[in-house]
Amino acid sequence: MADRVIVVTGASSGIGASLAQQLGARGPRLVLAARRADLLAQVAQRASPRALAVPTDVTRREEVLRLRDAALRAFGAIDVWINNAGRGISRSVLELSDADVDEMIAVNLKSALYGMQAVVPHFQERGAGHLINVSSFLSRIPLASPRSAYSAAKHALNALTANLRMDLARTHPGIRVSLVMPGIVLTDFGRNALGGATTGFAPPSAGPMKPQTADEVAAAIVALIEQPRAELYTNPAHRELALRYFGDVAAFEGELLAPRRE
Ligand SMILES: NC(=O)c1ccc[n+]([C@@H]2O[C@H](COP(=O)([O-])OP(=O)(O)OC[C@H]3O[C@@H](n4cnc5c(N)ncnc54)[C@H](OP(=O)(O)O)[C@@H]3O)[C@@H](O)[C@H]2O)c1
Repeated sequence: MADRVIVVTGASSGIGASLAQQLGARGPRLVLAARRADLLAQVAQRASPRALAVPTDVTRREEVLRLRDAALRAFGAIDVWINNAGRGISRSVLELSDADVDEMIAVNLKSALYGMQAVVPHFQERGAGHLINVSSFLSRIPLASPRSAYSAAKHALNALTANLRMDLARTHPGIRVSLVMPGIVLTDFGRNALGGATTGFAPPSAGPMKPQTADEVAAAIVALIEQPRAELYTNPAHRELALRYFGDVAAFEGELLAPRRE
C-alpha cells in the first residue's frame, strides 16, 4: 500500500474523507478531489503529508483530465483511481424534471465515465492499475423511490463498470475494475441531495438495512484495494437480499410495502 499512488474523488466529506484518513495512515501518496477547496485542503492535511488536494468539479471532463495530470505530475504514476463523488435526489419519478435527471446523470454517471476514460489509458500503458467505482445498493435494488433518478444513474454506472471490466479482462488482465455498493451510510449525503433531505424517513436501527458509518465503508474499500474483486457489498447482508430480490421481484416489493398498508 505504502508505495502506491491513489486518487479519490468526493474526498471533502463523508466516505471519501474517511477513506483519505484511513489510507493516509497506511502511507500511500494520495490525490484528493472535490469542489469545496477549503474542506478538501483540511482533509488532505489531516490525512497525510503525502496528500495532494486538487479542487475539481467531476462533472466537467476537462477538470477530471486536469486531476489526472496533476497526479501524474506530482507522483509520476497512478495505481488506484476511486470514483467516489456522487449526489442523491429526493424526488419521485413523477416529480422529476429534465434538469433533475441531467444532474443525476452528470454527477453519478458521467463523472465516473470521465474518470475511467482519463485513467484507464494510463493503466493500459503500465499493464496494471485498479479502478474502483462507488455505486450504491440502490443500484441493485431500487427500494427507495424518492431516490429514483439517483438509483437509475447508479444502475447505469454498474453497467459501464461491468462492461469495462470485461473489456479489460480480455486485453489487460493486470487491470482490476471494482464496483462498491454501500447501503445507507451515516454522512451528509441525505442533506446534500437535490431537493433536500427526504421527510419522514428514519433508517432502521436493526436488520440488513441498518446504516453503516463512513468509517466502516471506508475500511471495506481499503480491504478491497488490498484484495481486489469485482463487486463489494459493504454490508455483507446485502448479497442475500439481492439474491432474494432477483428471485422474485414482485414478492420482494410486496414485502417492502406490506407494513405501509396496515
Ligand atoms: N451516504 C449514503 O447513504 C450512500 C449510500 C450508498 C452510496 N453512497 C455513495 O457514496 C459516495 C460518497 O457519498 P457520501 O455518503 O460520502 O456523501 P457526501 O458526504 O455528500 O459526499 C459526497 C462527496 O462528493 C463530492 N461531490 C459531489 N458533487 C461533486 C462534483 N460535482 N465534483 C466533485 N465532487 C463532488 C462532495 O464534495 P464537494 O461538495 O466538495 O464537491 C463530497 O466530497 C457517493 O457516490 C454516494 O452516491 C452513499
